[in-house]
Amino acid sequence: MAESIIINDVGPRDGLQNQKKHLSVDERLTLINALVEAGVPAIEIGAFVSPKAVPAMAGTDDIFKQLTHISDVAFSALIPNKRGFTTGQDLQVPLMSLVVAASKTMNEKNIRMSTDDAMVMCKDVLSLAKESKSKVQAYVATAWECPFEGDASPDEVMRLCDELLTAGASHIVIADTIGAAAPDAVFTLMTRLSDAFGAQHLSCHFHDTRAMGVANVYAAIQAGIRQFDASIGGLGGCPFAPGATGNVATEDVVLLVEQMGYSTGINMPALLAASDLATELTGTARGGHAKAWLKQQHASNECDRG
Ligand code: COA
Ligand code: ZN
Repeated sequence: MAESIIINDVGPRDGLQNQKKHLSVDERLTLINALVEAGVPAIEIGAFVSPKAVPAMAGTDDIFKQLTHISDVAFSALIPNKRGFTTGQDLQVPLMSLVVAASKTMNEKNIRMSTDDAMVMCKDVLSLAKESKSKVQAYVATAWECPFEGDASPDEVMRLCDELLTAGASHIVIADTIGAAAPDAVFTLMTRLSDAFGAQHLSCHFHDTRAMGVANVYAAIQAGIRQFDASIGGLGGCPFAPGATGNVATEDVVLLVEQMGYSTGINMPALLAASDLATELTGTARGGHAKAWLKQQHASNECDRG
């Protein structure tokens, strides 16, 4: 049997949080259900954040309540602070994601805390999570480059991962928030982190700003990583990180890893339908670089069969 790579679609959160047009709860649910239909094993459904800070994520609680009948998908939500954790805990969201950036300025812009204060808050939340047996993971954002401070320090990324895992984070997602990483730097950092903490505790989150998204996924696979975030149709961008464009598209990542012989459990024609839906709903999702070819491919397979 082929080895699996787990893909977590963050389109409904990272993808939609920065759209000019805010989708309704029903529209967001339609997109999530299309991803479920396609067999995507993990989906970030939204964020329990201040609706003033990120209006597009308002109503994530209503969305989660309408997904509780689905048990075979790992749903998660982003939490910026203790209040977000409490919301998620009350709703029994199976996985919540804290975010700490590897640069002080990015933390101040994103969650209005210094890195030190953010780490105190995260450790506090992780300790509450341990008591209540809730599952909380952590993102280390701007892990290669910060839009305000430039190159990130690999030692700082190591320190944050170490402290977050020690405090009880179930997993660490290493994020290239603005899409500035190059494959050699990805391989170097992810090899160092995998050696220190074990690749099974790590995943990667890439943006495709400089068209390095798929190459970076490849480099991380070479370093042993088997879990990736991606966003349907390449939707995305962080409202607090200037220059961040969409995430690497889910359809491109599925194509890459399946060509490499890994299995994702994802049905490509249904995924392409979800990508079309993302474009239809937002008007901005460009679709994966390979989408036109993938569509042609699947259309000709249909013809061969019919
Ligand atoms: N959920 C909902 N509302 C929240 C909240 C949460 N988790 N945390 C704080 N708030 C509300 C407060 O009640 C307050 O509301 P009010 O103005 O009506 O009284 C308001 O947000 C400000 O609260 P405060 O504690 O002063 O926080 P802040 O102004 O320092 O903002 C964050 C901090 C973290 C809440 C805010 O910056 C945020 O939500 N950021 C989102 C980060 C994000 O999603 N980034 C993108 C992905 S990485
Ligand atoms: Zn992102």
